[in-house]
Amino acid sequence: MTALDLSSPVAVVGTGTMGQGIAQVALVAGHPVRLYDTAPGQARRAADAIGARLDRLVEKERLTAAERDAARSRLRPVDELTGLAGCSLVVEAVLERLDVKQELFRALEDIVPEDCLLATNTSSLSVTAIGGALRLPGRFVGLHFFNPAPLLPLVEVVSGFATDVTSATRAYETARAWGKTPVASADTPGFIVNRIARPFYAEAFAVYESQGADPATIDAVLRESGGFRMGAFELTDLIGQDVNESVTHSVWRSFFQDVRFTPSLAQRRLVESGRLGRKTGRGWYDHADGAERPEPHTAEPAEPPAYVIAEGDLGPAAELLALIREAGIEVRERDEDSGTRLVLPGGGQLVLADGQTSVEFLDVVYFDLALDYRTASRIALSHCRDTSARTVAEATGLFQALGKKVSVIGDVPGMIVARTVARIIDLAVDAVARGVATEDDVDTAMRLGVNYPLGPFEWSRRLGRGWAGGLLDEMHDIDPSGRYAPSLALYQYACATPDEREDTA
Ligand SMILES: NC(=O)c1ccc[n+]([C@@H]2O[C@H](COP(=O)([O-])OP(=O)(O)OC[C@H]3O[C@@H](n4cnc5c(N)ncnc54)[C@H](O)[C@@H]3O)[C@@H](O)[C@H]2O)c1
Repeated sequence: MTALDLSSPVAVVGTGTMGQGIAQVALVAGHPVRLYDTAPGQARRAADAIGARLDRLVEKERLTAAERDAARSRLRPVDELTGLAGCSLVVEAVLERLDVKQELFRALEDIVPEDCLLATNTSSLSVTAIGGALRLPGRFVGLHFFNPAPLLPLVEVVSGFATDVTSATRAYETARAWGKTPVASADTPGFIVNRIARPFYAEAFAVYESQGADPATIDAVLRESGGFRMGAFELTDLIGQDVNESVTHSVWRSFFQDVRFTPSLAQRRLVESGRLGRKTGRGWYDHADGAERPEPHTAEPAEPPAYVIAEGDLGPAAELLALIREAGIEVRERDEDSGTRLVLPGGGQLVLADGQTSVEFLDVVYFDLALDYRTASRIALSHCRDTSARTVAEATGLFQALGKKVSVIGDVPGMIVARTVARIIDLAVDAVARGVATEDDVDTAMRLGVNYPLGPFEWSRRLGRGWAGGLLDEMHDIDPSGRYAPSLALYQYACATPDEREDTA
């Protein structure tokens, strides 16, 4: 099954933000494109807006003037739905309401030919539910583009229960022919990206709500230690708190209020008070002209320890030993079965975040997971009131001697990056076990859809298959609400060797 022929007309219904972007993609790929919108004059305005964007592509020399003129001549707004007769693909990007979408597709079925592929760009409704209104639901598929559609490469191709394999394949190949990177997803709340990305926001908000750290510090740790492009607070201010919260609510509701997807009370307050982010001038941060961005917490300089004793295998933080030696600090290695830690000269211990809190131990400072300890420019530390000042100072001085800024946060289990990554891995493994997508497609979707520095499976392979489950087990002990309960799939994933898994795949 191949992509749609470029001579086949494509229709875009609903010509707001997404419809315009999708129409531009199909048009630049070479299709004749028709636009339809129920708001009077909107399809024409959309055609003008797309024309203006094509002009800018010419200015940026990404399109020749001749290509622009040809594309413009292929673009046609229509005033009636019947103007879409003869189209080979209709992509719908109207209001996010089941009844509105169902009614539209019912009407379209009487207009377009029987072999016309019908697609919805819905982000939160069930593709199966929308397709349930159709006489021929086999040709109905989800084509979930990301905003802005001309720029973002990812497209989730979503198969509802009734979608034919041939329709899904044709949609997939067409998206690829349009220069996009398609991934195949089952019809599940949030599809791939919006489902697996929930903990990125939820864990940051939870650390804030438990007084673990302020937004600027959490954002800085996620960026500078976790390797994420933006922190959760600044990113949701950009997306819009209302938009981000509504995705969270929709996934939570669709999973019958599964506690793993519980929305944030603090974000609710923001939305209720109209602090929606950049678009209203204020969200987590103040975006008014000239407003000062709060600085992340950064510890004052402290003396580095003269030596550290490394006990056991530091696992994901093993690289630290080389960095410590390179910084001229002696590392004494001691074989130890009972734990993995760095012992400081004062007798205090430095332990990689493992889901416990330091109150359970004598004189412990936890350090957070980093994407790459060599390149991370900031490391979060946490400790409790009983941790000695000397241990905190030695731990701080040690990381500062490695060239890192240090943020000391509250004694929250799993700290910031570690709990976020562990939960993302858990949801990713669970999604694959439930047939939502393949491991490779999950990794591609999370890298391209939300810019993660690594896909969850790549990350998990680096950290060790058992790492996320171990951390979540500890967190579940402390918070038995179920929010951190590792999925059954994560246990099975941790136990299976890669070869066994490949054999049974
Ligand atoms: N905005 C995003 O970031 C984003 C990302 C991915 C998917 N989506 C999904 O794309 C769809 C559209 O979102 P948007 O942000 O472009 O919305 P929008 O409000 O910018 O545009 C919707 C357009 O649909 C038109 N419309 C409404 N009912 C119609 C009907 N029955 N027939 C024809 N036109 C109709 C409206 O007049 C409007 O022009 C939604 O399903 C949304 O969930 C949005």
